[in-house]
Amino acid sequence: MTRKLRVGVVGAGIAQRHLVGYKWNESLYEVPVLCSLDEDRGQALVAEYGIAEYTQDVETLFARDDLDIIDISTPPHSHFDLSRRAIESGKHVTCEKPLFGSIAEVDEMARIVAGTDRKFMPIFQYRYGTGLQKLKMLIELGLTGRPFLTTIETHWWRGPAYYEVPWRGKWATELGGGLLGHAIHAHDMLNYVHGACAEVFAYGETLVNKIEVEDTMALAVKMQNGSLASLSMTLGSRKEISRLRFCFADMVAESILEPYTMGRDPWVFTAGEPEHQARIDAALANYVVKEDGYTRQFELFHQAIVEGGEPPVTLQDARNSLELVTAAYHSQRTGQPTPLPITADHPLYRSWLP
Ligand SMILES: NC(=O)c1ccc[n+]([C@@H]2O[C@H](COP(=O)([O-])OP(=O)(O)OC[C@H]3O[C@@H](n4cnc5c(N)ncnc54)[C@H](O)[C@@H]3O)[C@@H](O)[C@H]2O)c1
Repeated sequence: MTRKLRVGVVGAGIAQRHLVGYKWNESLYEVPVLCSLDEDRGQALVAEYGIAEYTQDVETLFARDDLDIIDISTPPHSHFDLSRRAIESGKHVTCEKPLFGSIAEVDEMARIVAGTDRKFMPIFQYRYGTGLQKLKMLIELGLTGRPFLTTIETHWWRGPAYYEVPWRGKWATELGGGLLGHAIHAHDMLNYVHGACAEVFAYGETLVNKIEVEDTMALAVKMQNGSLASLSMTLGSRKEISRLRFCFADMVAESILEPYTMGRDPWVFTAGEPEHQARIDAALANYVVKEDGYTRQFELFHQAIVEGGEPPVTLQDARNSLELVTAAYHSQRTGQPTPLPITADHPLYRSWLP
């Protein structure tokens, strides 16, 4: 029989979607306790998802020896400390994006985790959309040819009401703006498909809301694999879209425009010649559809814990995403192109906060 892993969930906002993901994997997971500071939202989730216990004291989760995993779905500024305490208490950890507030913290966590037999999985659930997974398959099958150019648009809308939540819009608690908090999913897809970035040039502004952090950015990127990317992000788009286009020598992959489910089908894959289109179509016809989003990421996390191996999203993946952010902030502030990787001698290694 499959071993059910027991999860203590921290948070009662996006954590609701995590609970749906665990429920869809109910042969793999159970959630015996939920912890949040806001009792009304926490108690509502406990009632809705049949969770045995509610607490406001995260220490009680660290102290328990009947939990396998602590799931951290709290605001960004609390992620590192809670993650460290959770790993040190002997649990596996999964933690929401944006993972931490600096590359130094990612490296520190890698050191801490390396000294244990625990697994650490950052969240990037958008990766598991069927359209994006089909592109990954076509790359693995060698059907795309060399990569040339990727364009990614994250054009969303956030009005003043969104920033009434006290931790949002401020460097100290949100740690960044739309580049860090919103476009990070689509930009993770860039790294997921093409690997790490090599150099970034960025312009960034706060144009839409009266907040401290950026809400509009334009980035030009060189990838380590030699291809180029153009990334744009605004939280001032009255029509919300996300759009990804990957141009390769032998085909183009185009996402749907749904802002929050852009990884999902139906993506369009267009080849240069009819014979190659036939090969691509034949490969796509054999694709076996799986669950997506949190459900799939949690299913793969269970597999990594029970069978061994890397979690589906690694600390290095989170590092890639935060390196892009760090380099973009550095470029924006200096007016210079910024090379990657971001190493310990970089001026923003310990913090990108202004
Ligand atoms: N992956 C995604 O698609 C996605 C979507 C939305 C938010 N997020 C991320 O999830 C995180 C949480 O965002 P949110 O929108 O749920 O925020 P939120 O403010 O709605 O909820 C945060 C929750 O954390 C709880 N909390 C905070 N500190 C705590 C502590 N020390 N102990 C116990 N509980 C604590 C609060 O009580 C609250 O229930 C953020 O990092 C955000 O960027 C990810």
